Amino acid sequence: MSSSRLKITDTTFRDAHQSLMATRLRTEEMEPIAEMMDSSGFHSLEVWGGATFDATTRFLAEDPWDRLRTFKRLMPKTPLQMLLRGQSLVGYRNYADDVVKAFVDRSAEVGIDVYRVFDALNDERNLETAANAIKKVGKHLQMTICYSTTEEGRMGGPIYDLEYFIKRAQAFQTMGADSICIKDMAGLLAPYDAYDLVGSLKSMLDLPIQLHTHYTSGMASMTVLKAIEAGVDVIDTCLAPLALRTSQPAIEPLLVSLKGSERDPQLQLAPMLEMGDHLESVLIKYRNLLTSTKASVVDARVLSHQIPGGMASNLASQLREADALDRLQEVLAEIPITRAELGFPPLVTPISQMIGSQAVSNVLFGKYSMISGPIKDYIFGLYGRPPAPVQISVVEKVLDGYERGQEPFTGRPADLLEPEMPDARNAIKNISDDPDDVLTYALYPTTGMKFLRIKHGLDPVPDEMRPHDATGEPTRDTLVSKPFKSADFPKSARARAFNVHLGEEVYQIEVDPIQVDPERSKSGTKFTGAETPTSTGHKASSPLGLDPGDIGIEAPMPGLLLRHTATVGQGVRAGDPVVVLEAMKMENSLTAPIDGKVKSLPMAEGSSVVKGNILAVISPLAQDTVGK
Ligand code: CO
Repeated sequence: MSSSRLKITDTTFRDAHQSLMATRLRTEEMEPIAEMMDSSGFHSLEVWGGATFDATTRFLAEDPWDRLRTFKRLMPKTPLQMLLRGQSLVGYRNYADDVVKAFVDRSAEVGIDVYRVFDALNDERNLETAANAIKKVGKHLQMTICYSTTEEGRMGGPIYDLEYFIKRAQAFQTMGADSICIKDMAGLLAPYDAYDLVGSLKSMLDLPIQLHTHYTSGMASMTVLKAIEAGVDVIDTCLAPLALRTSQPAIEPLLVSLKGSERDPQLQLAPMLEMGDHLESVLIKYRNLLTSTKASVVDARVLSHQIPGGMASNLASQLREADALDRLQEVLAEIPITRAELGFPPLVTPISQMIGSQAVSNVLFGKYSMISGPIKDYIFGLYGRPPAPVQISVVEKVLDGYERGQEPFTGRPADLLEPEMPDARNAIKNISDDPDDVLTYALYPTTGMKFLRIKHGLDPVPDEMRPHDATGEPTRDTLVSKPFKSADFPKSARARAFNVHLGEEVYQIEVDPIQVDPERSKSGTKFTGAETPTSTGHKASSPLGLDPGDIGIEAPMPGLLLRHTATVGQGVRAGDPVVVLEAMKMENSLTAPIDGKVKSLPMAEGSSVVKGNILAVISPLAQDTVGK
């Protein structure tokens, strides 16, 4: 047993609220306890990365770079840590090397001291550029093993055995890692497996070992304790109000448990309780977000389905938006099947979302009949090497007609990418030349641009992005709701004309059913980006003028209409892509159901759409043109 003092990283300002409340804490809500956090004696404070970048720009109208700057100012003593998704940085796809370098340089300059770097597939080629950039700026490089299990929920089996993890860690040591993190995002690491894994890594490597785990399955307290007995150097915890459930273990009981032992972290309990009181006072307005409908704090099912907490809540909200929440059990059963077919990837961002969304599609629309762009790219090899081969029949089906080719690529994925920074600079040159803004755009071209327009005063802050008051409602400038513009509600193909007779006069009106998911309007939550039509989103549409035989392409789920891939008047064959819908954070190509001509594209690029909106109308080829 090690006799050194245990060190602790606090995750309250990043992973804890990401896990329990979709990363919705605002900087101003964390500021009051920042100085106390800095004085508490933590090894490091995880404050940035993962979903913070996305959530601040997409939902909070808050600049993530300013958040980091504020944290650095208020917490200058303790190293600030971020989670970096390797070549995917804080996004959901691989970025070109120039973006990775620029991001590391800038974040190091603004305030990050410790980089926890991981790749969803544990493919070290995806960590190379980030690792080199971090070493170059002289910051701490923590390289991460994503922990996963093959089938039964314990270490072992054909893929994820002790040897697999040791090999990864040895490769990271060779690459210059300053420490190694075992990242157990789904709470799957069992206590005695943790003891074996930590003990083996400690004996084989000459690097500090840190354990990051989630409480989800209920094992985390026991797992952390066994890891401490095996000599783990650092563990991750958070303050009690944001602990347990799908978040980290709480620090308070651990401090008392270890008091007087060889591994006593020697941190004071009192400031933790005081900071917890502050959080309690803030979290009361987020009770709608935090409240689970389940009686259980522990999700025992995760031991069989291996689904990380964030992913499970995403799935539920995706299904709710698609009006199919009743099919959650089918989706949970489909996930391990989809995962096995796709080469047993660890379920971690962004792969977890991709597998989850594909499982949702497989259940709602049939096996691989709707395939997102990212899944095609994954199978082609653009995300790296999966731990096991992808099932050959799936490869053939998915890559059939794929634009890059039918044979998967086996090199380092980022070698295929051209530099992206020049285009990003150019795209926002009329708005800003601030390097923070350029990176925000480079990472999130669509939602990043929306955010930058708000930040620079070109668009107003939408109500749903404003801070919430004590009742949980967004604060508003005025209590009177604005009248809706007809442009906000483009007429759909379902509009019907009626004659209304009033005495001697007749009025013709058109009636269009409101296509809003009843569940969501009932609950009144304001947290889905696609919920309310945006003022900039829609352009007024011309009447669709449907003729018999015309077919509308409906949005199968809510999302953002990214772009049209066909133009009005263009001839298309069944299966040709017509529009690209960003839904479930991924691009989905919607295809023509029949051979024909694009008659109209009723909604503008950039529009938020709800399920059932008609995105394109295809008219069948007229008889006389067939065969010409
Ligand atoms: Co985590």
